[in-house]
Amino acid sequence: MTCLLWIHFFLILLLKNSSAEFTILSSCKSFCGNVSIPYPFGIGNGCYLNHWYEINCTEISSSKFIPFLRKINKEVVQIDLPSPIKPEEESSLYGSLRIKTNIASMGCSGGHGQNLEEILNFTGTPFTISNKNNLMAFGCNNKATLTNVEPRIIGCISTCGTFDPWLYTLMDAFLANTTCVGNECCNASTPTEGRHVIGVKIESIHGNSPREGCNVAFVTDEYGQPSLWRNRTDSKRLHALKYATVHLNWEAMATNDSFKESLGCRDYFEDSNTTNPCYCDWDLPTQVRCACIYGYEGNPYIKNDCKDIDECKKLKDGRPEVCDNSDQICLNTPGTYQCVTKKRVSIGLSVLMVGVGIWLYIFIKKYRKTKRREKFFKRNGGLLLQQHTRMLSRNGGTPTCL
Ligand SMILES: *[C@@H]1O[C@H](CO)[C@@H](O)[C@H](O)[C@H]1NC(C)=O
Ligand SMILES: *[C@@H]1O[C@H](CO)[C@@H](O)[C@H](O)[C@H]1NC(C)=O
Ligand SMILES: *[C@@H]1O[C@H](CO)[C@@H](O)[C@H](O)[C@H]1NC(C)=O
Ligand SMILES: *[C@@H]1O[C@H](CO)[C@@H](O)[C@H](O)[C@H]1NC(C)=O
Ligand SMILES: *[C@@H]1O[C@H](CO)[C@@H](O)[C@H](O)[C@H]1NC(C)=O
Ligand SMILES: *[C@@H]1O[C@H](CO)[C@@H](O)[C@H](O)[C@H]1NC(C)=O
Ligand SMILES: *[C@@H]1O[C@H](CO)[C@@H](O)[C@H](O)[C@H]1NC(C)=O
Ligand SMILES: *[C@@H]1O[C@H](CO)[C@@H](O)[C@H](O)[C@H]1NC(C)=O
Repeated sequence: MTCLLWIHFFLILLLKNSSAEFTILSSCKSFCGNVSIPYPFGIGNGCYLNHWYEINCTEISSSKFIPFLRKINKEVVQIDLPSPIKPEEESSLYGSLRIKTNIASMGCSGGHGQNLEEILNFTGTPFTISNKNNLMAFGCNNKATLTNVEPRIIGCISTCGTFDPWLYTLMDAFLANTTCVGNECCNASTPTEGRHVIGVKIESIHGNSPREGCNVAFVTDEYGQPSLWRNRTDSKRLHALKYATVHLNWEAMATNDSFKESLGCRDYFEDSNTTNPCYCDWDLPTQVRCACIYGYEGNPYIKNDCKDIDECKKLKDGRPEVCDNSDQICLNTPGTYQCVTKKRVSIGLSVLMVGVGIWLYIFIKKYRKTKRREKFFKRNGGLLLQQHTRMLSRNGGTPTCL
C-alpha cells in the first residue's frame, strides 16, 4: 500500500517536471535592428512560444534589419511587455505591439492605385486593436468611416473651404488650420474596447469622383503627433509613406494550459500560494496575460524572471531617485524600499556600543575572577591535592572527597 503511494507520488513529481518546460535558448537574439523582441516573441526556432510570435528579422539594406510578424506579415515597430502592476489597481495586463498597416486612399497619383477599404482583421490571433488609436482622414470632401464596429457609426468628414473673414475670426481659422477638426483633416476615436476587426473605408461626399484630389484615411496611435497632420499638404505625403502605425494589445496564446502553469504566477483575482512576484489574468487557460508585480522587473512570460528592483541603486540626474534627503539611508526590501532617517541608525549604533561595552565589562570581570581563582588554588595547595587524587585512581581506588 505504502509502496503504491510512493510510486504515485513519484509519478506526480515526474509529470510535474516533464509537462511544463518552456526554456528559451540563450542564443536567441533579443533585438532586430533596434527593436527589442521580448519572449514570447522571438527570432528563430526555439526562441518564440508558437507561430503567432515568430519574428522574421529581414535585412532590407546593408546591416539595416527590420522585424516582421511572420504569421500576419506585418512590420513591427515596437513590442512592449505589460508594465508591472500594483495588486490593488485593476489593470489590463496586456502587452503592447505597434505595427505598420496599409492606409486607405482614393484619387492619389502614383502607382499605388486606389484602396477604398483597408480591413485590419486579427480574428483568432492573440492581437486586438486597442483604443489607443484614432481614425484620421486627410483631403477634400473626404468621408472616412470605420467598418465592422456595428452597431456604432464612427467616422469623420474633411473638407477644404476658405474661411470667410466676416464670419470667422483669425483665431478660428488658425485653429482650423492647426487641428484635425474638419479642415483638410479630421479625426474620430475608435471603440473603447479592444477589437479583433476594424475596417477603414474612404469615399467622397460627392460620390467616388477623382476630382477631389488625394484623400487618405487610416487608424493610428500617432494622431497626437502634430508632425503627422499639421502640414496641410499632408495627404500626398502620407500616401507616399503607404503605411500608418497601429497600436495593438497582445496576450499569450498557447495550445494548452501548461504554459500558464509553467509560469507559476499568482491568479490576478484570487488568492494563491505561489511566491513568484507575478500575476496572471486569463479568460481561457490557453489565453493568459501576465505581469510582474510592482517593485519587480523582468519578463513575466519567463519563469522566475521577475526580479526585485533595488530602488536604492536607482539614479535620477546623478542623484539617488529615492531617499535623496541627506539625513536618510535607503534600505532595499523585496518589492519596495525604506527610507530610514540617520538619527534612528545612530540610536541603533549607540545601543550596539552600549551592548559591546557591557559585554566587555562582563568578560573582563569573569577573566579576573578565573585568574584570581587559579591563584587561590595554587596558594592553598590545590596542585598537591590534584596529584594525590590522580595517584589514588591509578591504584584502583576511588578518590573520595576530603
Ligand atoms: C530605431 O532606429 C530608427 C532609425 O535608425 C529610429 O528612427 C527609431 O526611432 C529607432 N527606434 C527605437 C525604438 O529606438
Ligand atoms: C521575412 O519577411 C519578408 C517580408 O515579409 C519576406 O520577404 C521574407 O521572405 C521572409 N523571410 C523568411 C525567412 O520567412
Ligand atoms: C476575419 O478573418 C476571419 C478568419 O480569418 C474570417 O472568418 C472573417 O470573415 C474575417 N472578417 C472580415 C470582416 O474580413
Ligand atoms: C490656413 O491655411 C490656409 C491654406 O493653407 C492659408 O491660406 C491661411 O492663411 C491659413 N490661415 C491661418 C490663420 O493660419
Ligand atoms: C480630433 O477631434 C476632436 C473633436 O473633433 C478634437 O477636439 C481634437 O483636437 C482632434 N484631434 C487632433 C489631433 O486634432
Ligand atoms: C509639408 O510637406 C511638404 C511636401 O511634402 C514639404 O515640402 C514641406 O517641407 C512640409 N512642411 C512642413 C512644415 O513640414
Ligand atoms: C502543451 O503544449 C506544449 C507546447 O505547445 C507541448 O509541448 C505539450 O506537449 C502540450 N502538453 C500537453 C499535455 O498536451
Ligand atoms: C494556501 O495556504 C493556506 C495556509 O497556508 C491554505 O489554507 C490554503 O489551502 C492554501 N491554498 C492553496 C490554493 O493551496
